[in-house]
Amino acid sequence: PAALQELLLSRITDVPDYPKPGVMFKDITPLLSDPAAFGALTDAFAELCERHRADKVVGLEARGFILAAPVAVRAGIGFVPVRKAGKLPGATLGQAYELEYGTAEIEIHADALAPGDRVLVIDDVLATGGTADASVQLIRRAGAEVAGLAVLLELGFLAGRQRLQPGLQGAPLEALITV
Ligand code: PRP
Ligand code: MG
Repeated sequence: PAALQELLLSRITDVPDYPKPGVMFKDITPLLSDPAAFGALTDAFAELCERHRADKVVGLEARGFILAAPVAVRAGIGFVPVRKAGKLPGATLGQAYELEYGTAEIEIHADALAPGDRVLVIDDVLATGGTADASVQLIRRAGAEVAGLAVLLELGFLAGRQRLQPGLQGAPLEALITV
């Protein structure tokens, strides 16, 4: 609803030329420090868990962790971390993805998900869609079903949604706010 979007947007700050000239950084730290806004965001994501019948929440390191962990608690379902490569102690599955310069890799514990699990993936921002796309592929390779992908903020002008579309294979992409 419009009131929720207005509240959330009012707690996201534009920081020009960060991390480099020409980039407008979307800073969510004011939202995190406002319990009413953070609570409303958590409720909205938890509702999406219910709507899409998710039984696991996957958070994407690092900013996705902050948003996804309270959602899992609120929804009463398990939290599974997708980490940047090299941080998980057990056997892992890895997925590489493209950055503006070079590549990066994310990992999940190989036994974190099981066939029949329905996963809602949560991250803060959808930009080019590279991170989200890699996470969706990783979750399927781990044997689970992607119930949906949910972000706080979609940067529409970067066309991440279009890039993601084929990989989503019909799974819904939910953005609470699109700019
Ligand atoms: C940022 C953001 C998203 C991703 C979006 O994470 O939190 O995860 O980029 O970009 P994309 O759609 O082009 O992939 P980043 O890897 O910068 O770091 P952090 O979350 O660890 O701060
Ligand atoms: Mg991130």
